[in-house]
Amino acid sequence: MCGIVGYIGHKQAYPILLAGLKRLEYRGYDSAGIALLNGENRIYKCKGKVSDLENYMTGKNVSGTIGIGHTRWATHGEPNDINAHPHMSMNGIFTIIHNGIIENYSQLRKRLEDRGYTFKSDTDTEILVNLIEYIYLKGQVSAEIAVRLALTKVIGAYGILVMCKEEPDVIIAARKGSPLVVGVGNGEYFLASDATPIIEHTNRVVYLNDNDVAVVHRDEITFKTIMNVKITPIIQNIDLDIGEIEKGGFDHFMLKEIFEQPRAIEDTFRGRISRSPNDIHLGGLFHVMDKLVTAKRIIIIGCGTSWHAGLVGEYLFEELARIPVEVEYASEFRYRYPVILHNDIVIAISQSGETADTLAAVKLAKEQGATVIGICNVVGSSIPRETNAGVYTHAGPEIGVASTKAFTAQVTVLSMIAMLLGHERKVISENDYQKLVESLMEIPEKIDYILKDVTKIQEIAKLYKNANNCLYLGRGYLFPVALEGALKLKEISYIHAEGYPAAEMKHGPIALIDEHMPVFVIAAKDKSYEKIVSNIQEVKARKGIVIAIVSEGDTVIRELADHVMEVPLTDEALAPLLAVIPLQLLSYYIAVLRGCNVDQPRNLAKSVTVE
Ligand code: G6P
Repeated sequence: MCGIVGYIGHKQAYPILLAGLKRLEYRGYDSAGIALLNGENRIYKCKGKVSDLENYMTGKNVSGTIGIGHTRWATHGEPNDINAHPHMSMNGIFTIIHNGIIENYSQLRKRLEDRGYTFKSDTDTEILVNLIEYIYLKGQVSAEIAVRLALTKVIGAYGILVMCKEEPDVIIAARKGSPLVVGVGNGEYFLASDATPIIEHTNRVVYLNDNDVAVVHRDEITFKTIMNVKITPIIQNIDLDIGEIEKGGFDHFMLKEIFEQPRAIEDTFRGRISRSPNDIHLGGLFHVMDKLVTAKRIIIIGCGTSWHAGLVGEYLFEELARIPVEVEYASEFRYRYPVILHNDIVIAISQSGETADTLAAVKLAKEQGATVIGICNVVGSSIPRETNAGVYTHAGPEIGVASTKAFTAQVTVLSMIAMLLGHERKVISENDYQKLVESLMEIPEKIDYILKDVTKIQEIAKLYKNANNCLYLGRGYLFPVALEGALKLKEISYIHAEGYPAAEMKHGPIALIDEHMPVFVIAAKDKSYEKIVSNIQEVKARKGIVIAIVSEGDTVIRELADHVMEVPLTDEALAPLLAVIPLQLLSYYIAVLRGCNVDQPRNLAKSVTVE
């Protein structure tokens, strides 16, 4: 969702805030703004991207060594200049930036209106800043106390930074539900919704927990709860390289991240696979291994692309380990009174580790006694901190809004867990285990091979860039890949696309097929090969255009399809890791040809920290 950044120290705040907003823009890009405190509260904000804000700032007075900045993904109120953050209180005493949703904002608004407050914007945030000011003036209390008292009246989620004109040497930060990190410098502090804007200044960070407040002065910081109980902070060193969050010569983050997949997968299994004989060690699961091996059921939860990775997990766990699996959208799971048994294993998949619905589902599952395992990419994020055990994907920071390397890294982790459980439960023989682990280790090289020559994919992108609708079909392990291929296309090119299990096509989508309908069929040489060949014939019989992803050396589908894109052969269980690559690239090239903003597709946000 929104990106938050703050600075207090001895340097000029503006360049630090602006650079921070550029790093955080992937979290939301409806509008951007900065507040600086230098004698008075000065707010600069506008609709649009951070670059629009930068232009708008030309010639303005940007001096000041304390400030806050925000890039917005709109929830309350349309994206426009007035609704952009920061917001100022009616009497100009406080400024605030906020990520999250204040659910009881209309009751609070009414109470403030009854006390003479008026509002300029449609946002819930403006209510909060005025509530803080009202308490401050009425109670004659410090800014910190006013913030804490105001937050006790709030229902909802927030990550906030607040500045007070009358206490010009402090930023007050608070978190409930929306992430906040403090970077500890030398006589200076950095605040942000994630570590990406901080690492160029310091690698020493403190992650705020829910209900934590940080009172940040230049030379000192105090952590406490909203109820004023002091907390001893845990300072962590983060291991993030600045190169990892820059484009490194690629036109877009998404393309860079697609090309990073061989390395991301290797990093994900590095140190977890030993050779001669091949074996898998997942340190983060050691203490729950007994529970996993004897599990009667696994429930996988996630959203978006992570949910698609979960679907691949279902095929993996059921086939390789013979454990029944349910895969759930986190948003549905948490609200439908799910039956959770105490020996259930719940696996939460999330790139960001912050997705609000997944986090809430994790808490629910934990409360009800399940063992909860996280598969997350962002180290120190909220979900890994809530779970009983976990395996980090080591894909590195993913900035492109459309997830790519996170998906293949998640599937890599799921396949490692499934192989390990299959082996421990003696479902797969020692020989098959050896072969599967070997095949997994060959995946990075095979992806490299696909990435070496993308001309065929570019040609197909040119031919179908103007399609209005596309259908994606797959069976078995490749059905989730069909869903993921369709999601990638619609997310970044705005072409309507549907993913379907190939056999289900006859129960509806076949009615849509005509000579204008590109149908992408993902058809590796696996046990449903003959069946998918029949599905291709059904499409061709209705004059549909078939673009097939096939295994290297396939001759049958080559005859039937209009175009084929080949991927190397691998074990059926690992085929998603290869088949998804051409689909990611195809979506990317189509979106670029259509002139779409690939890294910042309209209306989407990278990390959905509100429901
Ligand atoms: C958003 C992103 C998707 C992502 C989903 C889940 O919708 O745009 O790319 O798959 O959230 O995010 P998570 O961080 O939980 O994997």
